[in-house]
Amino acid sequence: MLGPGEATGAITARAIADAIFADRRSVTRGAVCAETHARYVEKEFVMTITVNGQKHQVTSSPDTPLLYVLRDELGLRGPKFGCGLAQCGACSVIIDNSSTRSCVLPVSVVTTPVTTLEGLGTPERPHPVQRAFIEEQALQCGYCTSGMIISCAALLEAHPRPTDAQIEDALDGNLCRCGVHTRIVRALKRAAGLSA
Ligand code: FES
Ligand code: FES
Repeated sequence: MLGPGEATGAITARAIADAIFADRRSVTRGAVCAETHARYVEKEFVMTITVNGQKHQVTSSPDTPLLYVLRDELGLRGPKFGCGLAQCGACSVIIDNSSTRSCVLPVSVVTTPVTTLEGLGTPERPHPVQRAFIEEQALQCGYCTSGMIISCAALLEAHPRPTDAQIEDALDGNLCRCGVHTRIVRALKRAAGLSA
């Protein structure tokens, strides 16, 4: 039986790919560039939200958490529902260069582009953090993986060679119930070109 942080050899390649790149059927790619705006059309609230470089019109009510819009309206399976209380990080997305908890963010206040796991990289062209997660086998069940990768990517964007304190601070809000933290930090350091 695997102990905390031990090898992930029982995971299938498909499961690893799903955790690290999400469901490829619903991927939207491209540079992150656009705006979000909302307007009332007759009695319906219609918003344009930009996710992974692509504009989408969504019709959820204004107070709907962004996470629900991403998963239910846009079909993006990268961000996960964990606690729904901004306490586990499974739902993390990048907004304004920061890892942001989408489970408590009303979609109507999202005014800048959103990047989800699907927008980071592809199996063919993985983001450095995704590649490092594979190389370090930095997952077990995979449920926290999307949020972890998002937080790592946001950190490296802000601090390409982060200190241990910056790493600890960046991952403080991302929980891994499988206890794979050691491997996750190792993957983050590998992506940054730092020795573990
Ligand atoms: S589901 Fe958003 S922080 Fe847990
Ligand atoms: S790998 Fe299972 S919760 Fe992190």
